[in-house]
Amino acid sequence: MRYMRLRDSSVTHGRKKASAVALVVISILCLISFLVSQNFVTTLPSTPAFFGVGRSIQSFSNNELVESVNITYDIEHVLQKQRNNISKALRRYRFPNGRYNISAKNLDELVLEKNGRPLRSVIVTTWRSGSTFLGDILDSVPGNFYHYEPLLHRGIVQIRGPPKSGSALDHLAHLLRCEYDATDTDMDQYLLYGLDHKELFTHNRRLWEKCIAYPHLCYHPMFLKKFCSLFPFQSMKIVRVRLNLIEKLLEDPTLGIRVLYVVRDPRGTMQSRRHRVWCPGNADCWDSNVLCADLTADFSAALRLTKKFPLTFKAVRYEDISVNPYNGAGNILRFFGREYVSEVKRFLDTHTVQNFGGVSSTYRNSRSAPFHWRSELSYPEVKYIQENCKTAMAAWGYVSAMNATHLKSFDPIKGHFALE
Ligand SMILES: *[C@@H]1O[C@H](CO)[C@@H](O)[C@H](O)[C@H]1NC(C)=O
Ligand SMILES: *[C@@H]1O[C@H](CO)[C@@H](O)[C@H](O)[C@H]1NC(C)=O
Ligand SMILES: *[C@@H]1O[C@H](CO)[C@@H](O)[C@H](O)[C@H]1NC(C)=O
Ligand SMILES: *[C@@H]1O[C@H](CO)[C@@H](O)[C@H](O)[C@H]1NC(C)=O
Repeated sequence: MRYMRLRDSSVTHGRKKASAVALVVISILCLISFLVSQNFVTTLPSTPAFFGVGRSIQSFSNNELVESVNITYDIEHVLQKQRNNISKALRRYRFPNGRYNISAKNLDELVLEKNGRPLRSVIVTTWRSGSTFLGDILDSVPGNFYHYEPLLHRGIVQIRGPPKSGSALDHLAHLLRCEYDATDTDMDQYLLYGLDHKELFTHNRRLWEKCIAYPHLCYHPMFLKKFCSLFPFQSMKIVRVRLNLIEKLLEDPTLGIRVLYVVRDPRGTMQSRRHRVWCPGNADCWDSNVLCADLTADFSAALRLTKKFPLTFKAVRYEDISVNPYNGAGNILRFFGREYVSEVKRFLDTHTVQNFGGVSSTYRNSRSAPFHWRSELSYPEVKYIQENCKTAMAAWGYVSAMNATHLKSFDPIKGHFALE
């Protein structure tokens, strides 16, 4: 079994590498043809990300291969197909029509290209805190466009205030508005990062499907802008910006976002981070003191935001959702103003059942996954984290283990937790 898995992963790795190289090559071809066919060469200074590329490829501008590619045609073709798919997939959808404090009565009122305003659902949390599961619940609703980790290109850092926060928040707002053509360094770096880190877009499965079929469009700002603008539901998962800063986005009436803050037991988070190669050595990720200082600050921000934005902000604990995933998902979707459609139920049916399909890691048990740390960490390790995390754990209602025996039998989430 172990041998099989090793082989599997080395094959995928090879494929990953090959497709990354192909993507780079194809994307450069796409840029060349785009610049040539759109006479963009004259406006290059307004697209700084590609300025370097544009300059270095000018000698290719008479390439026949390049001139035979009609990007405009390809973009329109993909958009029309996706438009049809979305309206078909949502034919029976019950639009809010005043429920959930949202007035939209039909699809058009939620679609940017029709001058509507999408339902923008944002999850704010930190690394390894269960947000993948919650993000996938939202993404199981048809017509969702998933802005997965929009600050991936910034590396393993937490943003807690100026000077980093200003540009980061601008970038988040650009993505939420589908402004892939924004001319700022973050957008440039984000798209360039995506060229050789395909995980930036693979979680956005409705986009990724098009990236596979039309690799020359995948990182094209105009394509991304138009494609994104078709989707009535936009979701975003943020793990690098602390909650306090999100207030600025919540205050923007034209964005109209709803924000779900997700906290996880720091013992579970730290245990899960141990298995990530990118974590050790980065204080923002590796140090439980730093994590718990953030969780304490997030609690005080959550108290404030709950009062200030009772309809558009909510804080939950990952464990509470996981032990009761059907109810939990229902509550989350209601908060975001989305229907609990059959696709959500199907997603939960296949992702919350123990031992479904044998050892496949896709079908993990959401009910027990949050508590693995109890058997994976020794009591001294737990005790160390608890000492660093007293305040954060008390605030969020997590119970301390008193000794090695207690660790195996106690219920870690039965503390006092209320944010009203
Ligand atoms: C590219 O396709 C568009 C849309 O179909 C069309 O209007 C345009 O004439 C085509 N351009 C070239 C150079 O073939
Ligand atoms: C829309 O496309 C998805 C793949 O992205 C497909 O699974 C689904 O069946 C399509 N829906 C309709 C109604 O065509
Ligand atoms: C949403 O709630 C606010 C305040 O509670 C209210 O003024 C507004 O009319 C509501 N809007 C809708 C569409 O229900
Ligand atoms: C472990 O802690 C529990 C809960 O505080 C306590 O009841 C128990 O006596 C302790 N056991 C040992 C061996 O100290």
